[in-house]
Amino acid sequence: MIPDFPTNRPVLALAPMQDITDRAFMSVVSQLGGPDYYVTEYFRVHRDSHLEKHILAAVTGNATGRPLFAQMIGMDIPEMVRTARQLLEYPVAGIDLNLGCPAPVVCRKDAGGGLLRLPDHTDRLIGTLRDTIEGKFTVKTRIGYHSPEEFPALLEIFRKHGIDALTIHGRTVTERYQSAVHTDCVKAAVGALDCPVIANGNVVNAASGAEYIRRTGAAGLMIGRGGIRNPWIFDQLRAAFTGCPAPQPTHRHLRSYILALHAGLEAVGRPPTPERIIHRLKKFLVFIAQGLDPEFDYKIRRVRTKDQLVECCDHHLDHDTRLPDLPPENSKLFCGFNDLLPHSQKSDRRPHSNGTAR
Ligand SMILES: Cc1cc2nc3c(=O)[nH]c(=O)nc-3n(C[C@H](O)[C@H](O)[C@H](O)COP(=O)(O)O)c2cc1C
Repeated sequence: MIPDFPTNRPVLALAPMQDITDRAFMSVVSQLGGPDYYVTEYFRVHRDSHLEKHILAAVTGNATGRPLFAQMIGMDIPEMVRTARQLLEYPVAGIDLNLGCPAPVVCRKDAGGGLLRLPDHTDRLIGTLRDTIEGKFTVKTRIGYHSPEEFPALLEIFRKHGIDALTIHGRTVTERYQSAVHTDCVKAAVGALDCPVIANGNVVNAASGAEYIRRTGAAGLMIGRGGIRNPWIFDQLRAAFTGCPAPQPTHRHLRSYILALHAGLEAVGRPPTPERIIHRLKKFLVFIAQGLDPEFDYKIRRVRTKDQLVECCDHHLDHDTRLPDLPPENSKLFCGFNDLLPHSQKSDRRPHSNGTAR
């Protein structure tokens, strides 16, 4: 087990997300309860790569009080070894390998999810990294490139090299972000591996997280988009697992969260200008606004200054109405989670067939 992981309930992690999980976001989330551990955005690794400064700043300035794993993406074995060694000189809890990114530009280079098409190379890469990394070495994978039928062979690679934890985004690379998750594959991994298996994909509220654990027996949950929309989800899950009272966030809490995010981006000075900070904040706001008053969604996408942001939040969010527990299932950014909900929460609406998450 990883040190500091709780033993009385499933462990909770914030999923790594490019342009989202930086120092500012992690700090804000940690102040609202936060997960048990974090993973950085991926460090790109190739022949000319160096450790990207803004991602490194999340490591050196980690103010969450919780472990932070550094994630790498790449396929060149000597360069991955070089980068792992460099990262281990910083205060990281361990190194995480990305085997899931579906972006065509990444997969074309046989990195991220593209590695799942090359099991022999992936086997050598994981074996070499395992031999190099004295501390914790974890892997975040999908269940195959084209088909879940590829998963058993991948599991054998993970088992053979004794990785310290496996996070499974329960979709194939070609399923991207839209489908239901294959909980049977996560369950198979729990049975096959000695290390903790962390279930990922489509956890949008406490009920869907509890159901993912119930169906798979996973040691924990990793949450991405659901944690941007609802950063209280980690405390809500803790409450669901331990029986203590759950936070019940209101629109007014959401207003404070948005303004804290803005202040956090300002404080770390990235991006460097007020206009670009608002632009960057919108990457969060598209997730946050899902399922709220459509007028708020419309207006918040058009704010250009901090004053307009505050005015829009004051106008739409300064009241004590509870936030909806679920995002709309047929939205572009959240689809496929219906399958993880108990019957009482399921909706009949079908996801958009062309929905995209990024
Ligand atoms: C905007 C965005 C950026 C992402 N960047 C990364 C990344 O850098 N590394 C990674 O392993 N996964 C990345 N992912 C995938 C998430 O970590 C996660 O596996 C996926 O979103 C499914 O979990 P969720 O349904 O809880 O969001 C990203 C996802 C999104 C939406």
